[in-house]
Amino acid sequence: MRKKIVAGNWKMNKTLQEGVELAKTVNRQVEDNGVIVILCTPFIHLSEVNNVITKDSLFLGAQNCASETSGAFTGEVSVDMIKSTGSEYVIIGHSERRSYYHEDDAQLNKKTKLALAAGLTPIFCCGEVLAERQANNHMKVVKTQIENGLFDLSPEDFAKVVIAYEPVWAIGTGVNATSDQAQEMHKAIRELVAEKYGTQVANNTSILYGGSCKPSNAKELFANPDVDGGLIGGASLNASDFMGIVNAF
Ligand code: PGA
Repeated sequence: MRKKIVAGNWKMNKTLQEGVELAKTVNRQVEDNGVIVILCTPFIHLSEVNNVITKDSLFLGAQNCASETSGAFTGEVSVDMIKSTGSEYVIIGHSERRSYYHEDDAQLNKKTKLALAAGLTPIFCCGEVLAERQANNHMKVVKTQIENGLFDLSPEDFAKVVIAYEPVWAIGTGVNATSDQAQEMHKAIRELVAEKYGTQVANNTSILYGGSCKPSNAKELFANPDVDGGLIGGASLNASDFMGIVNAF
């Protein structure tokens, strides 16, 4: 079944104490009403935040994982370590990872497979930069990211993946994709998945929108037939904004 999901991506924000406080407030306010709410915190917050989660609909996720399983990789955090904190999700291929840390499709494909093998649900990000949209290349760019990142997965594994479409020009800019732009891309992604894995898998794939999503635009974005929720950056750092988005469903 396709799930409705709102995931907060805290990025590199909040001290441990601030993060725990935010998680407590969100945990208090989340209603178990069918929307899956995920907090993607910095690595060091995961275990403590897991301890404050009591709601059935509230889950924990990491923002990245290592592309190796264990060993001499100073500063890296493996999928098994993430899983051992109580996390069930991991964001893979966020545009900030792709651009600042030069993570390419092959590496993201490897991370996705490691996450799945560890029993984590990947939230696989894709999205074009402004110049690509202006050149009318956005469909092609996203198609390539998804094909290279995901399309050698078995149907069983692919069925576990959540996709997040995040146009890079909309991330942290205050300029969200319009409802029509989001729906157009999400529909195209679902059709691409259907061509590869069949309509049933495509219909069951949750495709989230990310990029300047806020309480004031979430309702309109989420009303689209192919938008199954959001990946929320800035607005996830404040419980009332975040819950305003969760409650937009
Ligand atoms: P934003 O970030 O909501 O602050 O635009 C979204 C994201 O990067 O996941």
